[in-house]
Amino acid sequence: MKIGVVGTGYVGLVQGIILAEFGQQVICMDVEKDKIDLLNKGIVPIYEPGLKAIMDRNVEAGRLTFMTDMEYTVQNCDVIFIAVGTPPKEDGSADLTYVIDVAKNIGKFVNSYKVVVNKSTVPIGTGQLVKETIQSIFNVRNKEYSFDIVSNPEFLREGKAVSDCLSPDRVIIGSESERAAEIMKQVYKVLYQNDTPFVFTDIQTAEMIKYAANSFLAVKISFINEMALLAEKVDANVQKIALAMGMDERISPKFLQAGPGYGGSCFPKDTNDIVEIAKKYGEELKVIQGAIDANKKQKLRMVEKMMKSMNGMKGKTIAILGLSFKPETDDCRDAPSIDIIKGLCDKGASIKAYCPQGMKEAQWRLAEFAQSITYCEDEYEAIENVDAAVFVTEWHQFREISLTKMKSLMKDHYIFDLRNLHANNKVVRQLYKYYPVGRR
Ligand code: UDX
Repeated sequence: MKIGVVGTGYVGLVQGIILAEFGQQVICMDVEKDKIDLLNKGIVPIYEPGLKAIMDRNVEAGRLTFMTDMEYTVQNCDVIFIAVGTPPKEDGSADLTYVIDVAKNIGKFVNSYKVVVNKSTVPIGTGQLVKETIQSIFNVRNKEYSFDIVSNPEFLREGKAVSDCLSPDRVIIGSESERAAEIMKQVYKVLYQNDTPFVFTDIQTAEMIKYAANSFLAVKISFINEMALLAEKVDANVQKIALAMGMDERISPKFLQAGPGYGGSCFPKDTNDIVEIAKKYGEELKVIQGAIDANKKQKLRMVEKMMKSMNGMKGKTIAILGLSFKPETDDCRDAPSIDIIKGLCDKGASIKAYCPQGMKEAQWRLAEFAQSITYCEDEYEAIENVDAAVFVTEWHQFREISLTKMKSLMKDHYIFDLRNLHANNKVVRQLYKYYPVGRR
């Protein structure tokens, strides 16, 4: 069996490389020649720990190739994964242009039975749309080939993509055909045989599972962030609240860390998408909409808190530590840091910023504020002569930072610890005007 993965963005590339690691013959295909050239030179265009080593050994073993040739990929692969981007449109809904383009190309080049797998996060009903698109091209060609559509949503987390893909909590296979489901068992033979749970279902249910899971996690985060807000008012400790809540197995302790609000490519997009999908059917998803609204507020609240504690921002210099939306990634999409920096600049602050990986992307996302921002070489350069330091992302090196050295470098001594990295350290409270999240 040969597998083609169309789209070498985050999901497609990781998926292709891991399928090769599972022993499959894989072609990763992309229309972007520059990207394929990089991959063919052994350069991974995304930052993801551990991925390069796996890529290298599978290329060497002859299981993994990269190319721009769609016709070759379609004709030579039995299973074709669609893993292209579905960026948000202006109204917040997912843009399916690239998915439909791939479907058209599949229809154009197909020469035998194929399983077409949707891996991109797509609105419910897209499987059907892909099927109709391929069929419509067959009608134009006046040819008929059999094919099946499968929805196989991805749950990998950035920064942990390799381990998430190698040992997922579950594999979802949405399909109308026994034949396709059997082929998917072969695709994931390694997982199927090692007792990874598989959920076999219809296409729409599989498509909805992804939205439901991500929206639920987003709701959980917004919930604990609201508890943090109240905990600050009543002088309670949100970390203890989360710990105790999580001891109830029905709740679980995961995704209960209060912070500056969720970001990234998935939660903001998927929550907006599902709300928009429901609207099309005349329904309002109030719980998810509430989580979206609370998340927006949470980011702004961080700025308000700093404004209030420091008596305004005019003439103040603030160090922002961590720009990516979470550690171990360079991704700054919807990162709280971006909104926080914009908010602080609007109020008249100057920013000194540092992030181990997110600097490049943050710079273009914050281009309009370039005059107010200095990008620094490391965390110590960033805190030199500032009034306040803000820990926005929980990179490990920020946990290890020397609090005494920090004290000597800073001009004034405010710390806003939006990830509670140092909340249990007594020294921090002695040395600084220290503001954690959801606790005194
Ligand atoms: C998420 C899902 O976890 C993954 O299953 C899906 O496939 C893609 O979306 P990802 O966006 O990579 O993965 O990051 P994740 O680790 O889930 O974090 C998302 C955001 O939530 C981050 O901004 C993070 O800081 C925030 N978060 C997470 C919290 O604020 N508190 C938590 O307790 C957990």
